[in-house]
Amino acid sequence: MKTIVANWKMNGDEQLCDNLIFKLKDFDVGQSLIICPPFPLLFKFKNCRFCLGAQNCGIALHGAFTGEVSPQLLRSLGCSYVIIGHSERRRLCDENDDILVKKYEIAIEANLIPIICVGENFQEDYRLALEKQLNSFLKVRNLEKSIIAYEPVRSIGTGIIPDSDKIAKIVSFIKGITSAKILYGGSVDSSNVADILRIDPVDGVLIGGASLRTEEFYSIIQIAKNCC
Ligand code: 13P
Repeated sequence: MKTIVANWKMNGDEQLCDNLIFKLKDFDVGQSLIICPPFPLLFKFKNCRFCLGAQNCGIALHGAFTGEVSPQLLRSLGCSYVIIGHSERRRLCDENDDILVKKYEIAIEANLIPIICVGENFQEDYRLALEKQLNSFLKVRNLEKSIIAYEPVRSIGTGIIPDSDKIAKIVSFIKGITSAKILYGGSVDSSNVADILRIDPVDGVLIGGASLRTEEFYSIIQIAKNCC
């Protein structure tokens, strides 16, 4: 199965965790499924068979950083992955490339696999925007072992998805820059996930809203398992 990452953003509760764990109890998804709930819900997934990721991490292993969470602590709570540079954090929390590279480096030090989000804004040329965002990471360690999530900002939460040829072209463009795995994200649901996963250079999907509805998310995983 190609990789499926669920980014719950600032949503979800213990009930949603219980529902998902129950629904997936007999489903062998292993390393291909990564759930990224809010920090306080990470403990609910500690002994699950699928992978766990955090949505963000602090810029140091420990210290005087009020309100931040150490990647080392995330690792000890069972996380193997951490999302870095989601467009919402770039926009709402002013996270710039320097901060994101620091987060990347510290995540690697804590033995987490970074999922770096990139994507052009409404008016931007995708080549210029992606080159700029990715250039900052070209000197980091282990980039090829991390994951890049391509999320065009206009597709996040809007139902607007680029056509398959365009996704293929842009993901191939990113593959020309790095050999990391590339996911597509933005308005993925059960109606379009098969088409997206069948795009050859796409290695998986990053899902927001649709991952919050257990039945819908379960359908997505089943489709992903069977389609390629
Ligand atoms: P939606 O799937 O809700 O469009 O969100 C995409 C996203 O931002 C995942 O990180």
